[in-house]
Amino acid sequence: MGTSGRSAHWFAAHGRAGMNARSWVKNQGYSDEVFDGRPVIGIGTTWSELAPCNAHQQRIAEAVKRGVWQAGGFPLEFPNMALGETLMRPTAMLYRNLLAMQAEETIRANPLDGVVLLSGCDKTTPGLLMAAASVDLPAVMLTGGPMLNGKYRGTDIGSGTAVWQAEADLVAGRITQEECYFIEGCMSRSNGHCMTMGTASTMACVVEALGMQLPYAASWPAVDARRYATAQQTGRRIVEMVAADLKPSDLLTREAFRNAVRVNAAIGGSTNAVVHLIAIAKRVGVDLTVDDFDRDARDVPTLVNLMPSGEFLMEDFCYAGGLPAVMKELGDLLDTSAPTVSGRTVGENIADAEVHNREVITSFDAPFQPVGTGTAVLRGTLAPDGAVIKQSAASPRLLCHRGPAMVFEDVDEYYAVCRDDDLDVDENTVLIIRNAGPKGYPGMPEVANVPVPKKLQDRGVDDVVRISDGRMSGTAYGTVVLHVTPEAAVGGPLAFVRTGDIVSLDVPNRRLDLEVDEAEMRRRRADWKDPDNPYPRGWQRLYYDHVLQASDGADLDFLVGKSGSAVPRDGH
Ligand code: FES
Ligand code: MG
Repeated sequence: MGTSGRSAHWFAAHGRAGMNARSWVKNQGYSDEVFDGRPVIGIGTTWSELAPCNAHQQRIAEAVKRGVWQAGGFPLEFPNMALGETLMRPTAMLYRNLLAMQAEETIRANPLDGVVLLSGCDKTTPGLLMAAASVDLPAVMLTGGPMLNGKYRGTDIGSGTAVWQAEADLVAGRITQEECYFIEGCMSRSNGHCMTMGTASTMACVVEALGMQLPYAASWPAVDARRYATAQQTGRRIVEMVAADLKPSDLLTREAFRNAVRVNAAIGGSTNAVVHLIAIAKRVGVDLTVDDFDRDARDVPTLVNLMPSGEFLMEDFCYAGGLPAVMKELGDLLDTSAPTVSGRTVGENIADAEVHNREVITSFDAPFQPVGTGTAVLRGTLAPDGAVIKQSAASPRLLCHRGPAMVFEDVDEYYAVCRDDDLDVDENTVLIIRNAGPKGYPGMPEVANVPVPKKLQDRGVDDVVRISDGRMSGTAYGTVVLHVTPEAAVGGPLAFVRTGDIVSLDVPNRRLDLEVDEAEMRRRRADWKDPDNPYPRGWQRLYYDHVLQASDGADLDFLVGKSGSAVPRDGH
């Protein structure tokens, strides 16, 4: 039995410990040479029929295994908590940190020398990368790829984005419920994650930009044969990375995060990337803040014309050249010397990239949207620790706006009245939806982009300013101020806004203010008490006591940082 590597502490051990480790693995039909000291590679999936976006991962895992065997490793597949965005309640985000914790502990507790982690649906990508960062064994991410373009009556329709549109059409009586059922099938017609530039596609691109997955891996459609070829290549690479001891901490540097922030701006990425990237950075000790997303992206135009901000979808993005083509277009704005899992630098990865369709991936000089239209970070008396707005999803006329607040304690309170014809709103009203933050909901759900009140829709008003401590789906649009920090549930100013107060939004100057004087705010705050943990037991109780604010990545306080990959004591 070989004696090198971490896994050798299990499989090359003498006596009872070694027998225990080897014998039970043999029940799967492996012969003795798998214990000859070759690297043991864990292939961590987030497969589940309850996470439809990840339901094809077992096939991807088989392709990864081919590569691991080919390069002389021993692959062992293991499941992780699968977070399905569309089915989990109250929100998959409540469980991102649980996935991260579970995957971290599973990796560390087992005889693994390196891991390939398969993600896809929104929260699975950050959850697994947070885990990999905290164990810091050689690791490669592999996202599962987008669905094929939705196709409906001769037009392309996008995941999520088509749902918002269909709901609006249904409410307005333009389509029937029967037609909605039909659209559902047209929208999701293959394996894969959302094929708009929502959170899943954003995180897939961001992880590729970080250097944590192989070039082009973000954009091959889930059913494209080349995804499986990339999976096999990923299997080969992880074996080489174990030999070279190339770890997440070698790749997840300040420069890599700056590259990811800039790429996120260039692709018109989801606002959720802000929360996830900060959480990942804090695992490796890189001090990434919300302000970096504004400062580092200010000179980056949006180059990718994808829904929800644009018109195309991920399949088109793939055929147009994929992420390497976008990164090449960014040129000097990226640190091209940053190392990546391919064994080459960013610059080497993208050297041969080409744009094949200028409608989908525009040039830097004639961009899809000019600089200054990306995610802006706001501060002010209503958001002392920051809030974000996706300018490209907002109405230009509302980016500077002063208006009276209409306050809702939670999103349900709003939904109870939003169709009333006598709701006291006009086009200047600022809707405040509070208690949708990390603690308040709990889990910081994607509810901030509530629909425009029906009364205004009937008058042709299609957008009003909405402000919340919650998140917005990466597939949604509207003038929505998100992630207001500190959130209402921890006594942030948002908790003390009253209906009729004047709120002032000034995106060009990055301000979000409540026009209520300090003395009055002190009076309102006087009898606020930090509420007791309302959850008697279980995950929600632990989560409530430890979750950090959005500007700190909404991780649990005790999960920040890393513990490494030291071999735990044997307990047999
Ligand atoms: Fe899974 Fe969108 S619902 S990626
Ligand atoms: Mg989403």
